[in-house]
Amino acid sequence: MSRSAFVLQEMGLSPLWRPRGEPDIHDSPANLAAPIAETAAIVTVATPPSPAAMATPAPVEIPFEIKEATRPAKLPDALPIQDWDSLHAHVAACQRCELAKTRHNVVVGRGNPTARLLIIGEAPGEQEDRQGLPFVGKAGQLLENMLAAAGIHSTEDVYICNVVKCRPPGNRNPAPAEIASCASYLQWQIDTIQPDLIVALGRFAAHTLLNSQAPISTLRKQLHHAHGRPLLVTFHPAYLLRSPGEKAKAWQDWHQVKCQLAS
Ligand code: URA
Repeated sequence: MSRSAFVLQEMGLSPLWRPRGEPDIHDSPANLAAPIAETAAIVTVATPPSPAAMATPAPVEIPFEIKEATRPAKLPDALPIQDWDSLHAHVAACQRCELAKTRHNVVVGRGNPTARLLIIGEAPGEQEDRQGLPFVGKAGQLLENMLAAAGIHSTEDVYICNVVKCRPPGNRNPAPAEIASCASYLQWQIDTIQPDLIVALGRFAAHTLLNSQAPISTLRKQLHHAHGRPLLVTFHPAYLLRSPGEKAKAWQDWHQVKCQLAS
């Protein structure tokens, strides 16, 4: 199977339907790197495929007004840290919460710290805890595939991190005290990167970043403003692995991410 077919299959958008004899233009690296709008436009549907997920996604209509997130009652203390090496050293020595006792590695982030796009997940899982890097397990593989399909280079165009920097045992939800312990690290990352756009992956990251309890179905259709930056919400890739029928909506969200970055 070609790489592009694999990417689209992973997202629940394959197979592509092309008139007989037409070359698979999606196979060239240039096409993989092309913005979604262009990529979607060159897909020819010869016979209307039955699953709705195969349709070229229409852009989600984002309300004109930006939705301002409410501020948390207590803002995190500013860290006395000047650079990324100091942040890594600071987090590696962190004993602020119970997670320090069970972690194998802290997981600060990966990617380009000067990127325009900042992706924020929940907390490290088992693989991330072992490797000290975010999104390197199965959910991470799907995230990589979605980024590739969207023409976003995961080492150059984006910085990826989590709300919480240490693995909660058994992948349980992080406790409020654990989130609070990590809040100043995340705030430092946002303030230092100053991304043009933040993407919150999943309910947990969205609720933490937006100080909201609204359902993800509501949050993902709006452009928010939080922590001083524009913010979009999409599904967590681990959720998409459990609910592949939602991948077409995730595709719309990543399309929206591209549109927002281009605006
Ligand atoms: N899930 C997350 O939210 N973050 C990771 O780094 C891995 C899985």
